[in-house]
Amino acid sequence: VKVLNAYAGIGGNRHLWPDDWQVTAVELDPRIAAEYARRYPDDVVLVEDAHAVVMDRAHEFDAVWTSPPCPTHSRLAKTVASRTGRPLEPDPRLWEEIAHLRTLGVAHVVENVHVYYTPPIAPDVVTERHWYWTSAAPLMLTPPAGTRGILMPDTPASAYAAAYGLPMSPRGALSDSRKAFRNAVIPLEGLEVATAAFESALSMVSDGR
Ligand SMILES: C[S@@+](CC[C@H](N)C(=O)[O-])C[C@H]1O[C@@H](n2cnc3c(N)ncnc32)[C@H](O)[C@@H]1O
Repeated sequence: VKVLNAYAGIGGNRHLWPDDWQVTAVELDPRIAAEYARRYPDDVVLVEDAHAVVMDRAHEFDAVWTSPPCPTHSRLAKTVASRTGRPLEPDPRLWEEIAHLRTLGVAHVVENVHVYYTPPIAPDVVTERHWYWTSAAPLMLTPPAGTRGILMPDTPASAYAAAYGLPMSPRGALSDSRKAFRNAVIPLEGLEVATAAFESALSMVSDGR
């Protein structure tokens, strides 16, 4: 099954995906992309704008996972904006990608934080940390053990790595490893949401259709 993994980060969502999925990852930050490539040497890694790839090339894949940046959607952003008086416009690319993938009818997952405003499209799956818009039927997730309360401002990368079961990165590989680990999707959630959402694509491929 050919999977697009857009805004790949260090690949928390991808960590438990089966070896036989052919993954193309897109990550704009070259150091994060290099660290992703070190972790997943069999994946194709593109250092490009993921939004353009999702909008222009999603139809080339059997299944699509996309994790657009959260800073303009998170409650924290709202707090910072109100404190500093900065205007805050939610980045519309999140909603464009959900609408595009739904229209295309491709198996997909769009992941983001709980947005601070009334969402124009309601999420299909809500977990402690994330909202997901997916092509999946409603699903039961295994509650992740040991991750409650991890989002403290000073939580180090090593605590995320331990709680999520992700290997640490070599010293100096990332310019902000705390941020990259904090951004990561809990791997078990990444597997369960993707497997459910990609089910139709996976069965079509295994049937040889
Ligand atoms: C929420 S994080 C991804 C987390 C990832 N799914 C995981 O589980 O580890 C978003 C990532 O998108 C990257 N990014 C931001 N804007 C981008 C763009 N226009 N194109 C590609 N990557 C981008 C950031 O560098 C960051 O690594």
